[in-house]
Amino acid sequence: MTRVLAASTFAFLGVLLLCAQFPRREVLPGDPLRGITALEFELFRMGLEDFTEVETAEDGLGPAFNGTSCAVCHSVPAIGGMSSITELRAGHVDEQGKFRELNGGTLFHLFSIPDHRCQVQIPAEANVVARRLPIPVFGAGLVEAIPDEVIAALEDPDDRDGDGISGRAAWITDAVTGRARVGRFGWKSQHATLLAFSGDAYRNEMGITNDLFPDEVALGIEPELLALCSPPRRGLEDVRDRRTGLRGIDNFENFMRLLAPAPRGPANDLTHEGERLFRSIGCATCHVPTLQTGRSANSVFDRKAVDLYSDLLLHDVGTGDGIEQASAGMNEIRTPALWGLRLRRPFLHDGSAATIDEAIRRHRGEATAVTERYSSSSEEQRHALLAFLRSL
Ligand code: HEC
Ligand code: HEC
Repeated sequence: MTRVLAASTFAFLGVLLLCAQFPRREVLPGDPLRGITALEFELFRMGLEDFTEVETAEDGLGPAFNGTSCAVCHSVPAIGGMSSITELRAGHVDEQGKFRELNGGTLFHLFSIPDHRCQVQIPAEANVVARRLPIPVFGAGLVEAIPDEVIAALEDPDDRDGDGISGRAAWITDAVTGRARVGRFGWKSQHATLLAFSGDAYRNEMGITNDLFPDEVALGIEPELLALCSPPRRGLEDVRDRRTGLRGIDNFENFMRLLAPAPRGPANDLTHEGERLFRSIGCATCHVPTLQTGRSANSVFDRKAVDLYSDLLLHDVGTGDGIEQASAGMNEIRTPALWGLRLRRPFLHDGSAATIDEAIRRHRGEATAVTERYSSSSEEQRHALLAFLRSL
């Protein structure tokens, strides 16, 4: 015990010494937020460990799943980022254009544990299928700390200002508190908090049941068969760590909450020119450069500027994936944050755009006028705008 204590004190002093020696080392993707306490650093570290831990069927993985750890899909260019894996949703749209879930959900898992009797299939009635790319979680704690009112104040559902842009706040029921909240995480803004998203992802991506999502799902698989596919166990698969008292979902939450935004690339005259254009042609109406966090007892989150380039509202820009989910309609997608854009590709929710230029040209619907302004800009202007976007 004393040896363990001595070792951890030694490690702690080591961290302090490192911090003192390199007070101005530049923040790299995957680093924790600057200014967190030693305790928070420890929570971040434990969270990172769990986020990368590969689960097996014995740990509760499956029966149906999309990945064996969070990091499988969130690892480029560092843990917390994204990957080019896409997951699959499907549903049915009738002749009146009304969306219907098939087999009680829209997520059709890619994989199943052996012997694969519980492998999910897309039902024959499906006439919509949609692919979705992972979203990086760098800076997610700052996004979580933006008050609902700040997002709701940006909405203009009836387009009163007549600019053709009519964003809508995604009011959802928070899975943790049961309260009405403004969603901001996920392509459909389906969650407002990192804890809720963690519970959802642990069950839906990995098949690990937890306090927030206690039931196994594998769409279309009968409950009796599902019970046979899942090795018998007492209680939930996400158990509290006896030493720390934390659940897996708490660890994920801590890691993502304390993860710093990806640092920006270098700026120059060209990128400044591009940013001016970004604002003047109307990109910034939806990709709002900065939102402010609310008051917080924790100085790291207290009234901080969050340079995310998103209004976190739902819009119809003509790229919708045809899936109704939480508060979002079939054609609605939440404006993605553009911070860290240079560190990820491909683009759009389904990864269907290979270049940033193509992603911009695909904007229609509410963004039609803005897209036309982009297309009719001079080549030099577009060059500057793209240089700016590649500096984010
Ligand atoms: C199979 C790949 C995959 C795995 C495994 C996975 N994710 Fe994701 N993640 C995604 C995809 C795809 C999205 C976008 C989902 C959507 O909106 O439908 C996403 C989105 C997110 C978001 C929303 C970020 C934002 O800013 O909008 C969070 C938070 C998140 N994942 C956390 C996790 C956690 C925690 C785990 C592990 C328990 C996990 N993910 C495992 C693919 C994955
Ligand atoms: C009406 C709101 C709106 C306007 C105006 C708008 N965007 Fe978007 N933007 C969105 C939405 C919503 C998406 C997500 C679309 C999807 O994934 O299907 C998006 C996606 C993007 C992406 C891809 C991001 C990623 O993570 O894949 C880029 C890049 C982008 N927009 C840049 C721009 C630029 C540059 C302009 C101005 C020329 C602009 N947008 C104007 C709402 C808007």
